[in-house]
Amino acid sequence: MKKIVVANWKMNPETPREARRLFAKVKRTADRLRRIAIVVCPPAVFLSLLRPGKNLVLGGQDIFNEPRGAFTGSISAAQIKYAGAGHIIIGHSERRRLGETDELVNKKVRLALKTGLKVILCLGETARDERSDYLRALRGMLERDLDRVSRAEAKDLIIVYEPVWAIGGSASSADTPEDFLEHALFLKKVLAAGFGQNLALSIPILYGGSVTPENAADFLGRGEAAGLLVGHESLRADRFNVILRLADGSA
Ligand code: PGA
Repeated sequence: MKKIVVANWKMNPETPREARRLFAKVKRTADRLRRIAIVVCPPAVFLSLLRPGKNLVLGGQDIFNEPRGAFTGSISAAQIKYAGAGHIIIGHSERRRLGETDELVNKKVRLALKTGLKVILCLGETARDERSDYLRALRGMLERDLDRVSRAEAKDLIIVYEPVWAIGGSASSADTPEDFLEHALFLKKVLAAGFGQNLALSIPILYGGSVTPENAADFLGRGEAAGLLVGHESLRADRFNVILRLADGSA
C-alpha cells in the first residue's frame, strides 16, 4: 500500500501568497513521486486557492459537529468539501484541549463520513504511566470516537496515533518506532473488535508527533507505519520534501 503523508499546517501561514508558494514547492516534488499519497491540510480559508494534483490532495483541519444552522464562526462538513477538501482531520489534540469531547469527535466523524470525506482521526495519550493504565483510556477513546460508524464507512478512515507529549518538538521529542508499532498493533486490535479483522487490517495507522526528516524513515521502516502526519516540519518545504521522498522510497 502507498504510504500516506499528511501535512497539518495548523494556523499557518499568514498570507494567501505564502500558502500558494509553500504549496507550489511541495507540488513540484509531489509531481515526481509515484508511491505515496499526500494530503495537505491548510487553514480552511486557503483551500480554494490551492489546486490539488494526482497524488497531492487537500484536507481540512476541523469541521463543526452539526451539518447546518445558526452556528456563527463554524464551518460545515459540506462547506469544507465544496471548498476542495477530500479529507478532514478530526480529534486533533489541539482541539481536544479546547474542550472537544469524544462525543463531539464522534459526531464530527460520522458527519464527515456521511458527507463523503475521508476522516483522519487523531488520538493519543497525554502521558504514559508505568502500569500502562493509559492504554485502557486509549482504547476507550477510539471506541467512543468511532461509535456507530458502519463497516462501509470505516473504509474511509485513517487513524493517526499521536501521543500528545510528542507533539511540537525536535526528532528526539518523538515516540520511538518500536513503541509506535506496539501501539499501532494495540489500536488494530481495538478496530478488529469493532469492524472485524480484515477491515481493521486495511485501516491505515499513521504516526504523528515531531516527525522530521531525521526520524521519518525509522517510523516507516522499523515502526511499519502506514504513513506520517507532519506538523511544523510541513511548513518548511525543503524539509517536508525530504520526508516525502523518504516515504516514496526515492530519497
Ligand atoms: P508536530 O505536529 O509535527 O509539529 O509535532 C504534529 C501535529 O500536531 O499535528
